[in-house]
Amino acid sequence: MPEKSYIYCDWAAGGPPRVEVFDAVRKYATEHFANPGAHHPLAYIARRQLMELHERAAKIFACDPREIIFTSGGTESDILALRGVMALRAGGRDELVVSMIEHHAVLLCAEQMQAEGFKVRFAPVTADGVVDLAALKLLVNERTSLVSVMYANNETGVVQPVAEIARLAHDAGARYHCDAVQAMGKVDLKPRDFGADLMSLAGAKFGGPKGTGLLFNRMTGRLAPLMVGGPQEWGYRAGTEDTPGQAGITTALELAEAERANVWPRVQKIRDAMEAKLTRALGADIRINGRKAPRLPNISNISFLGIEGQALGIELGEAGFCVGLGSACAPGETDPSHVLRAMGLSFEDAQGCIRISFGADIKEADADRLADECIKHYGRLKVLGR
Ligand SMILES: Cc1ncc(COP(=O)(O)O)c(C=O)c1O
Repeated sequence: MPEKSYIYCDWAAGGPPRVEVFDAVRKYATEHFANPGAHHPLAYIARRQLMELHERAAKIFACDPREIIFTSGGTESDILALRGVMALRAGGRDELVVSMIEHHAVLLCAEQMQAEGFKVRFAPVTADGVVDLAALKLLVNERTSLVSVMYANNETGVVQPVAEIARLAHDAGARYHCDAVQAMGKVDLKPRDFGADLMSLAGAKFGGPKGTGLLFNRMTGRLAPLMVGGPQEWGYRAGTEDTPGQAGITTALELAEAERANVWPRVQKIRDAMEAKLTRALGADIRINGRKAPRLPNISNISFLGIEGQALGIELGEAGFCVGLGSACAPGETDPSHVLRAMGLSFEDAQGCIRISFGADIKEADADRLADECIKHYGRLKVLGR
C-alpha cells in the first residue's frame, strides 16, 4: 500500500538531509576513513581533510578554524558551553544566568548545575517572548561567569536582542553563550558581529545529518571538556572524529548560507499570508504568540483558544499536514510549554497551541489549505469542547 504523502510543517524539529550532504557523508566515510589521529599516509590525508572541514565551517562564521568544535548536536553544544565555562570558575565566578525560554538542553542543564551548588538565575521575558533586558541587567553581576540566551526561540521563532545581551554580559566581565540552533540559515550568523563568545548549532535544523552539531568557542576563552580521553577537537571533545558527519554538517552549512537570501523572504510572505487568513476568519479566537516581536521567517506559534492543540494536531495530521505541538515540549509531556507560560499565557491558552514551521519547499497553496483546515477543525472542536 503506498504511504500517504504529507505536507511537512515541522522543520523547526528537523528536516531531511540534502542530497549533496549525503554525497559528502558517503565520500568521507568511504575515501577518508582512516583515523586522523594515526600515523601513516592515509591518516595524514584524513587529518588534512579534517582541518579543511574546520576551515570551511570557520569561513561561514568569519572565525578561526580553532574556534570550531564539532559535536553530536545542539544538546551537546549547549551543555559543553554551560558546563565547560562554569566548571572553570574563572576569577572565582560561579553564577550562571539563563533565560526562562531556553531550550531544555540549556534549562535542565542549568537546573542540574544549580542542584550541584552553582548559583543560577533565570531571566524573564515580556508578553511578546523577548528577554526583558532591564530584568536581565539586574541578574548579571561581578560573580556572573556566563550568560546564556538563545538567538531565536524554537517554539515561537522570536528573535532575541542578542547584541544588547552580549554587551550586558561583557560589561559585567561575563562570557555570552548563544544557542543559535534555530537561527542558522535564516539570519546572517557571525558570532563576533553580535558579541557571542560561544554559539551552538545543530546540523539537522538546516539540512545536515541528525547527530551532528557544532560549538563556536572564541579562542580567548578556555573550556573544561565534558569528555576526556584523546586530544580531538582542540582538546575539547575526546573521541575519534566523526569525519563523515562533520563533512555532512559543513556541506549543509555552506548550502544554507548560500541560499539564505533567496529562500526565506518568500517563505515569510507565505507564513504571513497564512496568519492573516487565520486572523480574518477567527479573529479573537486565536492568538499568534510573539507576533509583535521580530521573528524567524518560517515559524508560527498559534493558540486556538478554547480547544486543545493536540486535538487540532491530530485532525491536521489526518488532513495530511505534520505540525508541531506548542503545548507539549516532548512526546508524552502533558505540561504546557514553559516558553508560553513564561510569556504569561494561561495554562489553557498554552494548551491550545500548535507550532507551524515551514521549510524552503513550502507552497503558497499548501499553506492556504493548512489555514482552511485549521479554520474548519477549530470550529468543530470548539463546539465539541475539545
Ligand atoms: C533551540 C534549540 N536548542 C537545542 C536543541 C537541541 O538540539 P539537538 O536535538 O540537535 O540536540 C534544539 C532542538 O530542537 C533547539 O531547537
